[in-house]
Amino acid sequence: MEKTTRTIAPAEVERQLALCDQIAELTAQWPEQPLACVHTYGCQQNEADSEQLRGYLARMGYGFTDDPEKARLILINTCAIREHAEQRVLGNVGQLIHVKRRNPDVLICLCGCMMQEPQVAQKIKESYRHVDLVFGTHALWRFPEMVKSLLTHRSRIFQSPDEAGSIAEGIPVVRQDKVKAWVSIMYGCNNFCSYCIVPYTRGRERSRQPQLILDEVRQLVAEGYKDITLLGQNVNSYGKDLAEPMDFSDLLRACNDIPGEFLIRFMTSHPKDATQKLFETMASCAKVAPMLHLPFQAGNDRVLKVMNRRHTREQYLEKIRALKALIPDVVLTSDIIVGFPGETTEEFEDTLKVLEEVRFDALFTFIFSPRAGTPAASMDDPMPREQKLANFNRLVELQDKISEEKHAAYIGKTVRCLIDGVSDEPGFDFTARTPGNRLVRLTGQGDLVGQFCDVTITAANKWSLFGQLV
Ligand code: SAH
Ligand code: SF4
Ligand code: F3S
Repeated sequence: MEKTTRTIAPAEVERQLALCDQIAELTAQWPEQPLACVHTYGCQQNEADSEQLRGYLARMGYGFTDDPEKARLILINTCAIREHAEQRVLGNVGQLIHVKRRNPDVLICLCGCMMQEPQVAQKIKESYRHVDLVFGTHALWRFPEMVKSLLTHRSRIFQSPDEAGSIAEGIPVVRQDKVKAWVSIMYGCNNFCSYCIVPYTRGRERSRQPQLILDEVRQLVAEGYKDITLLGQNVNSYGKDLAEPMDFSDLLRACNDIPGEFLIRFMTSHPKDATQKLFETMASCAKVAPMLHLPFQAGNDRVLKVMNRRHTREQYLEKIRALKALIPDVVLTSDIIVGFPGETTEEFEDTLKVLEEVRFDALFTFIFSPRAGTPAASMDDPMPREQKLANFNRLVELQDKISEEKHAAYIGKTVRCLIDGVSDEPGFDFTARTPGNRLVRLTGQGDLVGQFCDVTITAANKWSLFGQLV
């Protein structure tokens, strides 16, 4: 497979930071501090990218707002995973024309996975003339030079999406949360599941150096973070491209060895690369949360093959059994696609059988959405949408029942939870997470956010648990 990864030299990132400082000198002379409004769609990878973009913006002198009307710079970080996601973004970008009319000085910038698709970038250029800047995922590290150029020349910028995937270290971050943090350990994906756009929008797999990841985790723990999620599209293949190979299990263990009370989570895992070694590492590392998000997409072997998932249903189930043998109460979640081209209702029922056997705690379920340029987009897709919807509803109904039963089994138990926020639901003071990441709402007093506390679970529904502090 071609290796197109480009490691960005530290001096190049330094140059971007110097540009931030030049912009900061400029913005300091404006009558009031400029605000930036950053909106993020899509997965945690995009959230993590937005934290870097905010890091750059803060260094340029921008403050932050959620209100586009108050912003001098609007940045939308987009997701291309399903058509619905793209339509939503385009709708919202279209609306921004009114903001631009009221305030011609505002800079409207679009980035992320959609902008890595050449036809989307072209469409924005032609039909959304109020957009000032478009850049894809690979150009993120050069955001300051693009802003500098916009502020000086005021002409629209369209970054060519054919730039190679890169790894850039040393970009500042402004994190959104004080308790939970994301740490990207790798970028891109080599799997080319036949329905998926990610390998095209994120490029080939590339792993960050383990020392830099461990330094970041150590720093986060020192800053008081309690819940750290290692991110990648397929974390199980971490390290394959490193000069001195280190696999994902080794990395997890090294994170676990960092002193402090905190939890390590990770996502996403691919069944074909989830190994016995990984399961043993999870079982023996106290800080690694007892949970696994392991997408299986479909329960029928023919469908899995056309999806290019490179595992069978039985291989998947075998891995789940092996993991449950080591961690009996492991929390399991998965992603499922209903209505893949050519999937019959009978084949779909194999997916239901997997649900019944595994009994996931929760699922992320999607109806197939054709993505231009992926093999599945040109496959024969005879099933009418109503039938796909009917199948989808059966799936959701079954999972709701299982989730409700699994949650009900917590009632009466005392669980050590991490209090991670203030509850927006009346009657509850805090939200918390079980080690397996199930949501708990609870009552209590004091400044408890960020603390691990024992919670007795008193009630449950299909979405969450309810409890009292012990
Ligand atoms: N790298 C992760 C997640 C990728 S995207 C993984 O491999 O599991 C998250 C989920 O979106 C996928 O697991 C899949 O269930 C869903 N998805 C991806 N492409 C899709 C498409 N074209 N239509 C519907 N769902 C899709
Ligand atoms: Fe997409 Fe498959 Fe890669 Fe996940 S593993 S990002 S589903 S191609
Ligand atoms: Fe979406 Fe890109 Fe993530 S397509 S799901 S934001 S990798």
